[in-house]
Amino acid sequence: MVYKNILVEKKEGIGTIKINRPKVLNALNKETMQEISKAIGELNQDKKIKVAILTGEGKAFIAGADINQMKDMTSLEAKEFAELGHSMLLKIENSRLPFIAAINGYALGGGCETIMACDICIASESAKLGQPEINLGVHPGFGGTQRLPRLVGRMKAKELLLTGENINADEACRIGLINMVVEDNNLIEATEKIAKKIASKSPIQTDFIKSLVNKGTDIDIHSACSLEISYFSSSFSTKDQKEGMSAFLEKKKPTFTGK
Ligand code: CAA
Repeated sequence: MVYKNILVEKKEGIGTIKINRPKVLNALNKETMQEISKAIGELNQDKKIKVAILTGEGKAFIAGADINQMKDMTSLEAKEFAELGHSMLLKIENSRLPFIAAINGYALGGGCETIMACDICIASESAKLGQPEINLGVHPGFGGTQRLPRLVGRMKAKELLLTGENINADEACRIGLINMVVEDNNLIEATEKIAKKIASKSPIQTDFIKSLVNKGTDIDIHSACSLEISYFSSSFSTKDQKEGMSAFLEKKKPTFTGK
């Protein structure tokens, strides 16, 4: 598929979506969000792809939703815009693919909201993260008021949302907003190393684990544990379970086929 605002690359089981509007620090306009949504669908369909990376071109990951496009929106247009953002992020969350955010620079506003829908977040040491919407006379519209407190707790979330202050990558890691910080020039290599490790696992299990954590943490513990039992029992009708356990007992490396 041909895209205008993003680049999509597929290699060695890894699908990479790179937002490519560096002149506006990869700000998310409607067209870019529609393209990202389409690209997620494209990667989901491709059975050779086992894991996805989301990153940005230039000095930003995503510096937020596009302020030029939002400035004169009516309430109805803003509602449709927010719905588009939410729908894109739900596509990431509901994708069978683990998504790794490689945060190469600013992840602000809608950019910070985007990483929160991903499964693993790796940031370069110079990255800056935050929810500065309050400085624009609004609040986050792509899930920031909801995913942020679930990730870092209500106190820290309210501090970031109410002050609009950005934090550096180390602080983001300390509060549990991201997984790790790497040197700027090592970001893609470090991200691909983790992506390759995940790509070597059973794709059935990466999908199950992602669903269980995402769905399970939004429902009560008893229903969540029942869900785990149901996925666990289904795992025993897969070839990957037989392969994984036989390989262990035969002291071999397993080769998972996703069957
Ligand atoms: N939307 C549109 N354009 C943006 C943008 C955004 N979110 N962020 C940056 N740009 C544009 C700038 O307007 C500028 O364009 P021009 O060259 O035409 O002037 C270009 O990108 C480069 O930006 P700066 O000159 O500002 O770069 P800098 O290095 O001096 O500053 C920055 C970088 C601190 C990230 C600064 O650009 C900034 O504060 N950006 C806005 C961050 C923000 O408020 N994000 C939240 C958006 S609202 C949102 O996301 C709502 C939601 O939840 C749905």
